[in-house]
Amino acid sequence: MAKRPTIVRAVPALRRAVAAYRDAGERIALVPTMGALHRGHLALVRQAHARARRVVVSIFVNPTQFAPHEDFDSYPRRFATDIAALSEAKVDLVWAPSAAVMYPQGFASRVEPGGPAKAGLEDKFRPHFFGGVATVVAKLLTQTAPDFALFGQKDYQQLRVVTQMAKDLDLPLKVIGVPTVRETDGLALSSRNVYLSAGERSVAPTLYRVLKAAAVRIKRGEAIARVLDVARIEIDLAGFTLDYLEARHALTLVPVASRKDEPIRLLVAAKIGKTRLIDNLAV
Ligand code: PAJ
Repeated sequence: MAKRPTIVRAVPALRRAVAAYRDAGERIALVPTMGALHRGHLALVRQAHARARRVVVSIFVNPTQFAPHEDFDSYPRRFATDIAALSEAKVDLVWAPSAAVMYPQGFASRVEPGGPAKAGLEDKFRPHFFGGVATVVAKLLTQTAPDFALFGQKDYQQLRVVTQMAKDLDLPLKVIGVPTVRETDGLALSSRNVYLSAGERSVAPTLYRVLKAAAVRIKRGEAIARVLDVARIEIDLAGFTLDYLEARHALTLVPVASRKDEPIRLLVAAKIGKTRLIDNLAV
């Protein structure tokens, strides 16, 4: 049987474990997660192993990035299954603080990200979200002091926000973006896919199909605005309620006018039934 990772729940114990790795001259890679792990998370763990001798995975369902009407209470929690998967994946340490450890009584500071966090994409529909993410990720990064931190391109705006924050705060680490892991029909893996009914699940891959078709047409030289208009209609007709479908500069996330404003990323968010899905693709 695979060796179980060390499970740590308090900051001093985490500091001791990390210091032992450092004293041995070992590099550390951190994979922040909210648990309910799937092959997407495990791809991040594999990339972490490729870069560092020690791999730390954090599991923390961060209350401050959920709005009151969102799914914090129902968010899938499967700690035992997650630990089994992380044992197989040869993770060294799991950092699993409680909310009281992460946000003790009197906690009063926040990271307020700008730039890509104010691009008018996720932030427009989840205004509380990136403040919560940036604050918890800043804490996770200072708690574990890794050499590398790995994030999925699946949450593309989050990846840009975290990359910008690490740069702005002079955090001594490299943020690595890992390509999106998909089901064979193209649906991006997500912990929230368990919310989909069978009917919704069969429609869900439309998002990726539409993104792919739009990317091809933009590359061919068709006008971006027209390509996006057609794609928005296709998403509507499939039964989604569209939050946004946008073409943005892949690094700054500012709007792009033409194909020449490279590199371009297409980003989409849409609801099917009660479940909100996001995806994105490079042009
Ligand atoms: P969570 O949704 O658990 O995702 C953890 C990491 O896994 C993120 O970097 C996310 O982009 C990546 N990921 C999710 N699905 C993926 C897929 N299909 N392919 C590749 N990577 C994928 O994102 C969060 O948690 C939180 O916001 C967090 C950063 C942990 C802060 O609370």
